[in-house]
Amino acid sequence: MDIIRRTQIMQQIALNLKKKGNKIGFVPTMGALHFGHLSLVRRANQISHTTIVSIFVNPLQFGPNEDYDKYPRDLAKDADTLKELNVEYIFAPDVSNIYAEGFSTEISNSKLGNILCGKSRPGHFKGVLTVVAKLFNIVQPDFAIFGQKDYQQLVLIKRMVQDLNFPIEIISCPIVRESDGLAMSSRNSYLSPDERKAATILYKSLQFAVDKVENGEDNLELIKKEVRKMISKEPLASIDYVETVHPFTLEPKEKLKDEAVLLLAVYIGKTRLIDNIILKEKKDAKIGNA
Ligand code: PAJ
Repeated sequence: MDIIRRTQIMQQIALNLKKKGNKIGFVPTMGALHFGHLSLVRRANQISHTTIVSIFVNPLQFGPNEDYDKYPRDLAKDADTLKELNVEYIFAPDVSNIYAEGFSTEISNSKLGNILCGKSRPGHFKGVLTVVAKLFNIVQPDFAIFGQKDYQQLVLIKRMVQDLNFPIEIISCPIVRESDGLAMSSRNSYLSPDERKAATILYKSLQFAVDKVENGEDNLELIKKEVRKMISKEPLASIDYVETVHPFTLEPKEKLKDEAVLLLAVYIGKTRLIDNIILKEKKDAKIGNA
């Protein structure tokens, strides 16, 4: 396994691999790897000849008062983990190598990028789309694998790939959870023991909504109201948003009808956690095929 630090070298390696007919599977991450990330790496291994994982804590997607500085970083540990999974290349560039002096071109989606998490985190998705587009150009993947954990991010990336004609197939993988249901996240390490217990309210409330739907409830306004009530009873939790949306357009939905996703963003103490669950989906429907 090689750790590549420079964009020019990574791009040259990728172009050479492609010339030889290798299919490249790419997993972009910010490191502090957990089983959620590793599920994406396993998927990449299954469908490609060469797996490339990027580890880059992207300053452009963090707001001024967010956790960029304290975001967990442990490249040596991540490298050991990825070596065991037979990853061929880790791409771990420096910030100055990705954003060279004079950098000023950005990619944004004003329709889907300023709602939900984009509303609470102005500029976040502009940072995500810009870095992902750059990584795609550097790593030249045939497949790029993303988690459904970051649902809005997944929709935005699928949209970008379609809108800007990237010759890349976006593959999505299900959310990997702890045994008590908490979605795995690098940010879970910020939680105190009491907060960690309180954080289970996210998945409990998603499950509650699923049960309601399974019992025939199709009024999403009512479901959201009850979910909010349930989360509000947890003293350490404060709601950023609880929304039901169309799975691809992310437009608000009040009635279940054919398809809907429930999205949550909740602060547990000072840590902002997100989670989601598909309440109903159309067979053969794919995110981004709106
Ligand atoms: P990061 O938060 O490190 O996540 C990297 C990938 O892992 C994303 O596709 C995310 O959805 C997926 N992931 C995280 N937790 C998961 C879980 N519990 N189950 C399944 N997949 C999970 O997302 C980012 O980094 C960045 O925004 C990035 C795309 C790398 C751009 O900087």
